[in-house]
Amino acid sequence: MNQRRVFLKGLAGLGAAVVCQKLSASPSCAKTPAQTAGPFYPGESQFFPDNDLTRVPGASRPALGEIIYIEGRVQDLLCQPVADVNVEIWQACASGRYNNDRDPNPAPLDPAFKYWGETFTDAQGRFNFKTIKPGAYPATEDWDRPPHIHVRVAKRGYKDLITQMYFKGDPLNDEDLILKSTPADQRSSLIVEFRPVAIESGATLGEFGITIEKV
Ligand SMILES: [Fe+2]
Repeated sequence: MNQRRVFLKGLAGLGAAVVCQKLSASPSCAKTPAQTAGPFYPGESQFFPDNDLTRVPGASRPALGEIIYIEGRVQDLLCQPVADVNVEIWQACASGRYNNDRDPNPAPLDPAFKYWGETFTDAQGRFNFKTIKPGAYPATEDWDRPPHIHVRVAKRGYKDLITQMYFKGDPLNDEDLILKSTPADQRSSLIVEFRPVAIESGATLGEFGITIEKV
């Protein structure tokens, strides 16, 4: 090997070292684990496209149940905010019933609850919803699903993400077959702690961060 080739090889090695340094210095955020959409995504007739599920046009009262606020931020694998992301949620009402003909749960529906909502992230990747804490419901004879909210996140150029958000401290979390389908070291990213919030007596607020990846 002549001296020039040795020199070039040295440069290439230096370049690789710089690239590696840059890569290792970049922040990285773990992709939010996906979970099943389940069978109860609502039909089109139930759509009221906004982010407040506690008020139905024409209803004389707000939805039944504990009011919760969900605040979140959608980011990419480099922890950078992603704007204009469509965020949808759907869930059971306080009694644990979905507004879907396929739901066999005999618990009563709440006509003042929307069951579904959507919003878009702002320039900082932020989004928020006002809704109620859903009830637990029977999945099988010996398995009750813990309270959870289904979430779908979509934006052109990124992989769609469907997952579920859970409530920290719920005793049904530990035995839930769907929550346990997510590897143990990733489960905590789907479990949100809700704390009392000053803006509304009795309401709580939780932060649900979501990380998506480009296609
Ligand atoms: Fe569900």
